[in-house]
Amino acid sequence: MKKDLLKISDLTKHDIDEIFEKARILKENQKNGIPYKPFIGKTLGLIFEKASTRTRVSFEAAMYQLGGNAIFISSRDSQMGRGEPIKDTARVLSRYLDAVVIRTFGHDIVDEFSKYSSIPVINGLTDLHHPCQVLTDVFTMLEKKGNYKGIKAAWIGNGNNMANSWIEAASILGFDLFLACPKGYEPDKKIFEHAKKQAKSDIKVLNDPKEAANNADVLNTDVWASMGQEQEREKRVKDFKGYQINKDILKLAKKDAVVMHCLPAHRGEEITDDVMEGSQSVIFEQAENRLHVQKAILEKLLQQI
Ligand code: CP
Ligand code: NVA
Repeated sequence: MKKDLLKISDLTKHDIDEIFEKARILKENQKNGIPYKPFIGKTLGLIFEKASTRTRVSFEAAMYQLGGNAIFISSRDSQMGRGEPIKDTARVLSRYLDAVVIRTFGHDIVDEFSKYSSIPVINGLTDLHHPCQVLTDVFTMLEKKGNYKGIKAAWIGNGNNMANSWIEAASILGFDLFLACPKGYEPDKKIFEHAKKQAKSDIKVLNDPKEAANNADVLNTDVWASMGQEQEREKRVKDFKGYQINKDILKLAKKDAVVMHCLPAHRGEEITDDVMEGSQSVIFEQAENRLHVQKAILEKLLQQI
């Protein structure tokens, strides 16, 4: 496995299977109160240029529960915010820390950090990818559905970082993925075309949410305006009209379909309150699974250094 996790396609199916098996055991141990502290003396750095609740807290809690420490570094309060080059920061922090999670805007920033860093770099979200969230989502899907075979997942709404990572996951793991996005908001073309070429499963980008939802096992969505796109919100509210997971869309999916959202959600926009709170929603278990899956990611990356 590569030193870093910057995108899902850094992983093979075998890597992902191993992460999921580890996550399953760690979740069970956590529920049974069995302590497990392989990271005594290890420190994880978290460099965040965007807001976060889940990613930050789940990584910090994961490190503490595994016996290690975490240091949160807001780029605003560090020399990075005053223009210290990434390549210098990466080499300096590699001498203090054992791994680093970065949340930032351009994906080129994590690529640059990874190039100069001698410790594992984990992408905690860029404009292009959100691998830790999507690994967690697929882990949750697997918990609920048992396997990938014959699974149809639907993505309704923005073809954003989450959608890109779902596309890579579907291609590597072999489940069908139908995305419905408004014109002009499709996923990254290069990622889609590459994933489609590699995939044995069916990955489609459509414009009709009903076609995507029809007979689906999983319905998934995310905010219409991601972090950094707040100024486009008004226009997007118009452009995304109809791209909502609601009762009517849910009726088109399989009877036992599950509903996912990476959170934070805008109720009444991409998803309705009743669906979020309804019996088919696995959204809060999905959020919990960030903790277990990221522990497994940390173990896998830290074990090889
Ligand atoms: N889903 C997710 O990454 O949440 P945060 O922005 O709160 O970290
Ligand atoms: N697409 C969203 C995900 C937030 C977890 C964003 O980038 O803001």
